[in-house]
Parts: sequence; C-alpha cells; structure tokens
Amino acid sequence: MRIFAIFLTVSLITNAVFSQNSIQTGSDGKSWNVVTRSSVYQLRVENDEVRMLNYGNKSLMERVRSPLGAEIPVRGGFVNATPQIEVVFPDGVRDIELKYQASEIVTTNGYQTLKITQSDKYYPLEVISHITVMPEYDLIEKWVEVRNTGKKGNIKIENLLSGSVFLPKDAYELTHYSGVWGYEFSPQTTKLTTGIKTIQVRDFKSYGSSSFLVRPEGQSDPFSGKVWFGSVKYSGNWRLDFDKSFNGTVQIVGGLNFWDQELYLKPGGSFTTPHIVFGYTERGTEGVTHSLTSYIREKLLPVSHRSEIRPVLYNSWYATTFNVNEAHQLALAKVAKEIGVEMFVIDDGWFKGRVNDRAGLGDWTVDTNKFPNGLQPMIEKINALGLNFGIWIEPEMVNPNSDLYRAFPDWVFHFPNRQRHEGRNQLILNLAREDVYQYLYQSFRKLLKENNIKFIKWDMNKAMTDPGFPSAPIDEQRAVRIRYIENLYRLVETLRNEFPEVWFEDCSSGGGRIDMAMSSRFDFNWTSDNTDPVDRIFIQDSYLTLFPASTMISWITHEDWHRQNLPLDFKFDVCMAGVLGVGYDITKWSESEKTIAKEKIARYKEIRKTVQTGTPYRLVSPYENNRSILQFVNQERSESIVFVYNLAEYPNNMTGPTQRSTTVLLRGLQPEAQYTFEGLQGVYSGAYLMTTGVEIPLRGAYKSRIFKLSSM
Ligand code: DGJ
Repeated sequence: MRIFAIFLTVSLITNAVFSQNSIQTGSDGKSWNVVTRSSVYQLRVENDEVRMLNYGNKSLMERVRSPLGAEIPVRGGFVNATPQIEVVFPDGVRDIELKYQASEIVTTNGYQTLKITQSDKYYPLEVISHITVMPEYDLIEKWVEVRNTGKKGNIKIENLLSGSVFLPKDAYELTHYSGVWGYEFSPQTTKLTTGIKTIQVRDFKSYGSSSFLVRPEGQSDPFSGKVWFGSVKYSGNWRLDFDKSFNGTVQIVGGLNFWDQELYLKPGGSFTTPHIVFGYTERGTEGVTHSLTSYIREKLLPVSHRSEIRPVLYNSWYATTFNVNEAHQLALAKVAKEIGVEMFVIDDGWFKGRVNDRAGLGDWTVDTNKFPNGLQPMIEKINALGLNFGIWIEPEMVNPNSDLYRAFPDWVFHFPNRQRHEGRNQLILNLAREDVYQYLYQSFRKLLKENNIKFIKWDMNKAMTDPGFPSAPIDEQRAVRIRYIENLYRLVETLRNEFPEVWFEDCSSGGGRIDMAMSSRFDFNWTSDNTDPVDRIFIQDSYLTLFPASTMISWITHEDWHRQNLPLDFKFDVCMAGVLGVGYDITKWSESEKTIAKEKIARYKEIRKTVQTGTPYRLVSPYENNRSILQFVNQERSESIVFVYNLAEYPNNMTGPTQRSTTVLLRGLQPEAQYTFEGLQGVYSGAYLMTTGVEIPLRGAYKSRIFKLSSM
C-alpha cells in the first residue's frame, strides 16, 4: 500500500537534461540537481514558484518525486510548513507571494553556489537564496539575502531563517546535544511526532551546539544507515524546528532565533542571514562525524594555524585561580618546561583589580600589585625557558566594580527602570555599540602589541539578560543581539588579521558557546570546566562526534567530581585524545609525578599528529557500554592510535541488557596492509583487525591504555 502510494507520486522530471557539475542545471534552465559524493538535493521552478523535490541518495536522482515543499516557505497563503520568512509590509499586509526571477551559479570559497532570486509579486521584497555544495564532505550550505527594493517605507522582518529542507515521509528520530555547565554535549534522542520540536537558544548560551541528526526510527547501527544532519553556523540566538506533518514528511528549518527580535529593512536596505549546514549520509553517525570533522579541520578552521600541529599547553586556572603573581607563574613555567609543555597560558586574575570575580572585568591593563614590572618582563623569562606565552581575556563583560563601568555605566545592556541582572557579578557590554567595539579593539590591540602573546583564551561567562539599548532608535532596539554578534565576529577577525601568529581558544564557562561559526574564527574550544576524567570521557565522545580532536583542549587537573582520586596515568590518557594540557599546581608535584608527566607528554608528542589530523572512529560508546574506545587513523592509513578507557568491568561486558562482545573491530585500516599492534603479539592484516577483531588486553575499572598500530 505504502510502496504503491510512493510509486504513484514518482514522475520523471520534465525531460530536462543535466550537466555533470556538482550543480547540474536542467536544459530548461529552471531545474537543478545539487550533487555531492553520495547525495542529491533537487529543486525546480513550477508555476513560477521554486520548489524542493528531494534530498537523499544520489542514485535515485532521476526518479524525482513531486515537490515536497517550497524552497523558501513563507508566511502567506496556506501555511502548511514552518515559514522561513515572515514580514510586515509598510501598509500592514503580512502575506508574501514569491515569484521566480532569475538564477546563476557563482563560486563561494572555491565551491559552486546556486543563487536563485525571487521577488514578491507586488511588494518591493527580493529574496536571494543560496545553496553552496561541498561535494567531498557530503554537505550543502544554505543562506538567504533579503532586500527592500522600494523607494519608501520599511519592511519589518519578524522571522528570517537561513534554510529549510523537507525529508520524505517516514518515521524519524532526532538526536541533538544539550547540557549545562560541567555537563556539556549530552546527546538527547527523541521520536519526531506530528507537530514541531524546537531546539533553540535565547540567551547566547548553549552547552551543546546547534548540531542535529535525523534518522529513520529504530536505526541503531552507528556505522551505517541514512542520516540527515546539520548545524547552524551562528553563535548568538539560534533556532531549529523539526516540523512533522501528519502525512509523514519532516521539514528541518533553522537559523537566527527571532524570539524578542525584529529587523527593519529600509528602502534600499538588505540583510543576509547566517549559514545553515545540511548533510546527508548513509554511513550512520560515523558518516556524520567524518563529514563534519573533516570539513571543519580542512576548510573551516582559521587558515593561519589550520595545518599546524597543536602545542602542549599549561593553563594556570585550577592551580592559582585569581591568586597570580610573577614568581609563582615563573615557578609553574619552569616545571611546565621540564615536563614538555610548549605553551604556557596564564588564566584569569592578571588584570587591574582582579582579586576575585567581583572586580576588574573591563579594565584590561595589568595589575601592578601582582606584576609590578608589567607582563612583558615575565613573558621574556618564560620565553627564555623555551615556552610560548598565552593569556586569558573576557572582552564582552564588565564588573560593576571597575573603572570602565564607573566611567560608562550606559555601555552595558540595560532597560531603564529595570534591574541589571548580574551573573558571576558581571554585566554584558553592549557590543552593538560602536564605542564599545572601539574600546575593546584598542584595549586588546594594545595588549597584543606590547606583549609577546601567542595565545588568547577568550572567555564569556554570563548568559544574556536585559538586552536593552535605550539610546538606539526605537526600530533598531530589537536587533541588538544580531548587531552584538556581528561586532563580536568583527572584533575576533580584526584582531586575528592583525596578529595572525596568535592562537585563539573559544571558552564560555566551559563549552557554552561552541559552534561552527566559532570554529571558523577560533583554533580551539574549551569543552568543559568539568575536568574529572570520568565525565570527560562522555563529553569528549559527544564532542568528537561533531568537532575534530585538534580543536578539543583537554587538561589534566586535580578536579575529582566523583571522589575517585584517579591516577595521573588515566587522566593523561583521557586528555591525550584531544589537545593535551596540564592544569595542576605542578610546583607541588613529586619527582615521580613529574616523571609520569614527562613520559606521557613525550608519548603524546609521538602520537599527536595522528590524533589531531587523523580520521576519528568511535568504536565503543561510553553511553552504551562500560567502556569507551576511540580510534584515530592517519591519512596514509599507516598508523592508528586506539584509546581504551574502562569504566567498570563485568564478565563479557554483561552490563544491563546489552551484553556486548568484548571483541573490538577496528575501522579505517588498509585491509591488505600488515600491522603491528602494541601490546599484542604478532602481526595482523587490516582485514583481520576490521572483521575478526581483537580482545583488548586491559582489565579493571578506571584503567586505560593507548595502543599504536603501525603498518609494516
Ligand atoms: C570560566 C572558564 O571556563 C574557566 O576555564 C576559567 O577560565 C574561568 N572562567 C576564569 O574565570
């Protein structure tokens, strides 16, 4: 019955013949196949309307179904989808009627982009939609520009999302990532039932990114099966709707969150949305991981450090908190050098008045009580040890107890007659203001010019409250969040252009602002303030599903959230699956602790190229097993690193109902190559390791090992 129903809706496309590019245009000039390695996205113009036909397996592209929906669903006419655009015209009309005008194929960042212009049939609204195709990553990227082409009257934008796709009729499950401080990236899976499932951010804090995976219900193999996935490239308020109709189709639509937000398009004015990434794979979650992580690593990360191996870090936060001074930082740096650290980063506490978290933010000059000689003499001594130097900043915030706030109390977001809500004793600077932007730019430019700083940790510790900008024209006041993020990006980009040698780490009370837009501007993310290795195993498993290991900073510290007092060995092994850092007060370390650290850091340096630039495989998930196993394979497939973390031990892994096998099947090797496997006798072919597998020789709870495989 169901097959018959689908068959009836299949029709051959109107005799159009397609070219062989990644964007293929039909001979009628009004139909397109957007083709990646394994997917096709199809659309065509029918009755002057641009319609989306199909998004899925490339081999089915010639069997085009009738349209699933409008390419740009709008508020107007029958509202049978979630609108991507909702506007009010100057005369109060709120319906849009779009008509196809023109199309062209242009190049964006080296990739083909299909640009389609539509305009309202009566009002001066032009909508230019873009679809960029990144074939080798199985990704497409959508965004929209809207223009007011009229001569008078503003068009009010009440909603403007970046892109929409429709999935064919089926029963689906959504997986997204959520969390709170200390418990970032917790995977959440839910069945999509009729209605709309919305995930969103309203206060700039996310703890889980906007990444999502939608797959047919009940499909559980992590290595195969259809998945539609994606992410909004945006760091402010974003929204994603998963709109399931009663007939079974699912629309995924997302972009800026127009909650408490509106824009006015003046005559001649335009606005361009952030981009939304969509992908399609038939290789399960692993296919998603490979598309997203290789795209981020190879194409998105800031170009200045994109292909560089990440250094081993020391960060002083857990050792010293606000109690920093030159003598102690130098003592830490000396031991850091001894154990093999390459970049020494001083965290919070170094600037004027910063004795605790109740003062100082906003006054970005050195605290001369703590550093009477300034920073540069200390940096020189640290450099003389052979270490680079980095520093923590929190540009977007101010403490009321600061010179900056006393001088410019209006520079923070606030509403008249309303409380200014403090979080961690701080308020948010209104970065939508040009004077705030200029102050921050000049402060950090000076800091970087006068001191030999090679690394910035950029923090942001308060959720957005009181988004008022009372001195702005009334019709600009509800656009403040958008303008803030525009200036945030501008500030990072301007500083990076001026100081290309400086590495930048993104942090927001741990992993509160991790997304693909940040990944194009920052080299690393601080994933979580929870550095307990047990929780980290879970957080890292999720993080590495979506982001490359070369962006995941992970320090060993004395934090012990589960009161297990786990050994240094275990902690190091957990942190070595990303960018290794040390956060202990290492001046207090015994010789034997230093020896362990030296050996582990030396070992990390030996394996880090494969970890940071290799292909990741999540062999065993801690969410479903009593252990976690991660594997990285280098690009030549001649070396592989396997991280094994035991969380508990039961005979035959018989925890709960899973009763998983203890045999581990490796992935990504060359079947015909012969590999040695550290810790195991003999030589194994890649095919054997991937199909028969091995028993990992590791016993006991909270035990870990790192194995290297090398081809002969
Ligand atoms: C929050 C960050 O997540 C920490 O790593 C640390 O930098 C503190 N802020 C400093 O105040």
